[in-house]
Amino acid sequence: MSETAPVPDLAPSPQLAADANGQPELFEEATADLEGFWARQARERLTWDTDFEQVLDWSEAPFAKWFVGGRLNVAHNCVDRHVEAGNGERVAIHFEGERGDTRTLTYADLQREVAKAANALTELGVQTGDRVAIYLPMIPEAIVTMLACARLGAPHSVVFGGFSADALKSRILDAQARVVVTADGQFRKGTSLPLKKAVDEAIDHMGADSPVDHVLVVRRTEGEVAWDDARDQWWHELVDRQPDTHEAQAHDSEHPLFILYTSGTTGKPKGILHTSGGYLTQVAYTNAIVHDLRPETDVYWCTADIGWVTGHSYLVYGPLANGATQVVYEGTPDSPHQGRWWEIVEKYKVSILYTAPTAVRACMKWGADIPARYDLSSIRILGSVGEPINPEAWRWYREHIGGGSAPIVDTWWQTETGAIMISPLPGVTTLEPGSAQRPVPGISAEILDDEGKPFTEPEKVGYLVLTKPWPSMLRGIWGDPDRYRETYWSRFGPEYYFAGDGAKYDADGNIWLLGRVDDVMNVSGHRLSTAEIESALVSHPAVAEAAVVGASDEMTGQAVCAFVILRGAAVPADGDTDAVVQELRAHVGKEIGPIAKPRSIMVVTELPKTRSGKIMRRLLRDLAEGREVGDATTLADSSVMQTIQQGMTG
Ligand code: PRX
Repeated sequence: MSETAPVPDLAPSPQLAADANGQPELFEEATADLEGFWARQARERLTWDTDFEQVLDWSEAPFAKWFVGGRLNVAHNCVDRHVEAGNGERVAIHFEGERGDTRTLTYADLQREVAKAANALTELGVQTGDRVAIYLPMIPEAIVTMLACARLGAPHSVVFGGFSADALKSRILDAQARVVVTADGQFRKGTSLPLKKAVDEAIDHMGADSPVDHVLVVRRTEGEVAWDDARDQWWHELVDRQPDTHEAQAHDSEHPLFILYTSGTTGKPKGILHTSGGYLTQVAYTNAIVHDLRPETDVYWCTADIGWVTGHSYLVYGPLANGATQVVYEGTPDSPHQGRWWEIVEKYKVSILYTAPTAVRACMKWGADIPARYDLSSIRILGSVGEPINPEAWRWYREHIGGGSAPIVDTWWQTETGAIMISPLPGVTTLEPGSAQRPVPGISAEILDDEGKPFTEPEKVGYLVLTKPWPSMLRGIWGDPDRYRETYWSRFGPEYYFAGDGAKYDADGNIWLLGRVDDVMNVSGHRLSTAEIESALVSHPAVAEAAVVGASDEMTGQAVCAFVILRGAAVPADGDTDAVVQELRAHVGKEIGPIAKPRSIMVVTELPKTRSGKIMRRLLRDLAEGREVGDATTLADSSVMQTIQQGMTG
């Protein structure tokens, strides 16, 4: 790292250094005049119907207002203005279905589709401010619906298609969504799975509390669906007969754009709220300078699902605001074969690929001979997001996907930050495999010690904080301002946004992210809370108590490991817990979704607790990771760990 001279090929090539969108002057400009810097980004990257009067209003901190007085339409910025600028024939989306079906949408096509969908939602009574839930697979209609909502100023709440009916229900209720847009089913790993069924179940379970007036259904798999004539409508009947023009109204810069639910430290997911002008400015800016997107020549591919923030910021809003040509793929990397992604890269000549470390590790496991069968020479920039990328995976990614020379941008950010915050700039930064390195121009971060003091000593571990408001910051938690203040702005005082991640510097001043310091796990780059899974487990009649920890896992970064105490009647007489463990795994899958299923569930008779009754997860993590159990002196009953260990081995 620090003592050794930088490996020459980790520095940008002279060509890239000269041509890249992100140049070193940006740092100087942002340091000299931060608000002036963001004002320039907002004005140059977006089209405003009414210019803003004030860059930042932080007078009601931590509730920020950016580009105050400005008015714009987000969908117009992502679609129409490109058509108006003469780029209507440019491909916006190369859609690749899981079964090999394809669709190409130019910006002019996208404009017509979004107009029709906006007209259809209007016919369903959707008005500015109404919430629309989107529960769709990765098909063009998902992007079209998000943009149609943005056009109308109706905040969307996208719910990942892998979430269960229960998870969908709580999100629909919390946001009070009036309309749900879904599909009959989705294709996944060569089979089709129902989707609308979960919407029906969610609405049934809400009973009279259901806020949903209409369900709009895309026909995708042609699977059987139950139908409620008063409530359900087919997309191809309602949307296809609409006029393909729609006049967009401008909305306030602070108008809500979307709510996206993410896991926190309690069992209740947080509805993270993002608004319009600031969000769009920063996603467009970072997509340009970090991914180095050049819309005239690049083919960009972000592999994230629209159910996660990466799909919102770097598949929908950032690249479309920039007029990119991109690939949208419906399926998984190994369907129908393990070379599927590389086949797609070759077919569309993808030049920028943005994916997650867990996918890189899976491809590593399948073997370098698979990508070697394809022509990947079009790739010039690689990106990583969602969790730290271990240096071994980093090197493999660069060598076997990036032809040994493509820069990798390791981008740190969160659902809450809305856009990339810490990342190398491909034309500026000498890369350090495994580190996200520095805040991008316009962003300020520090690392604090336990007392809340900033430090810069290398290798000392502390807490990552953000020290200045930024345009794409969350504007709060939907319906819960106190939780917003408490979660992010209280741990180290109101001047620091506490990200929840541990971090350290190396001797060169690079920031290394060290994972969550709270009860949030990161499984395959997806956030899950220990409390959420614990409450799913205890909702099963066989479980008296449960504790969940994230244990490190070679493939998924972290894996969910649960410890449960069974109710007396549920304890199997013969001591064989296999059946109940399988049942509990399935139960968590049903309550939350398959991604939350624990890798292991250990049946125990006691849980380690402090005298105040708090579960000592650290000790359980030692057990789950097969380590010697650490200091247990603060346990209320110090023999508990022995009892658990004996139970596990015996
Ligand atoms: O712990 C950090 C990790 O993912 C968390 C945010 O998760 P989520 O809101 O689901 O957003 C994921 C996609 C932006 C962070 O608190 N994380 C994300 N990117 C990185 C990362 N950890 C290390 N390096 C990264 N590049």
